[in-house]
Amino acid sequence: MHQLAIAKDNVFVPDPADSRRYRHALGTFSTGVTIVTLQSDAGPQGMTVNSFASVSLDPPLVLWSPAKSSSRHDLFAGAGHYAIHVLSADQHDLLARFTRGGAGFDGLDYHLNEEGVPVLSDTLARFECARANVHDAGDHTIVVGRVLRAAHGEGEPLIFSRGAFGRFAHHG
Ligand SMILES: Cc1cc2nc3c(=O)[nH]c(=O)nc-3n(C[C@H](O)[C@H](O)[C@H](O)COP(=O)(O)O)c2cc1C
Repeated sequence: MHQLAIAKDNVFVPDPADSRRYRHALGTFSTGVTIVTLQSDAGPQGMTVNSFASVSLDPPLVLWSPAKSSSRHDLFAGAGHYAIHVLSADQHDLLARFTRGGAGFDGLDYHLNEEGVPVLSDTLARFECARANVHDAGDHTIVVGRVLRAAHGEGEPLIFSRGAFGRFAHHG
């Protein structure tokens, strides 16, 4: 049996000058992985993102958070329309395309939706959004979008946990 109780010595105040321990604590909260896409003057853009969350069912609202440190922060925080793609467990190669210095859309299969947003053809789920609200939040911006269209396929999700990628394991 794992020891889950948190000893007094392990309680700490997050220190922006040394965020390692804080990141470690946050990394215990596992997420899926998404790619947020939009159209820009320089062509289709995409960003690998795990800050995605569902907020409201009625109306359908979802959020994600671009980092202010990203060279593309203003582009992504300012987009009127964008699409959020949930990756499947075998799409690890796709996520690397949309991190810093990745290959992006080169050679990828995609089409433009009614709003002109580049939409990837083959992911586990997709949420095509219109920007609803933007909230300032420290070193990130929270972008809330209204879901205009949603779609999902069959398959296993890609899981991001403690800085690593893997698959979901069912109990028993
Ligand atoms: C698993 C994973 C999740 C990420 N989640 C976010 C996120 O939620 N918000 C964000 O701004 N960047 C996130 N990033 C980093 C971006 O993909 C990108 O590399 C970073 O914003 C640098 O962008 P730039 O090249 O425009 O400066 C994530 C990267 C990885 C690998």
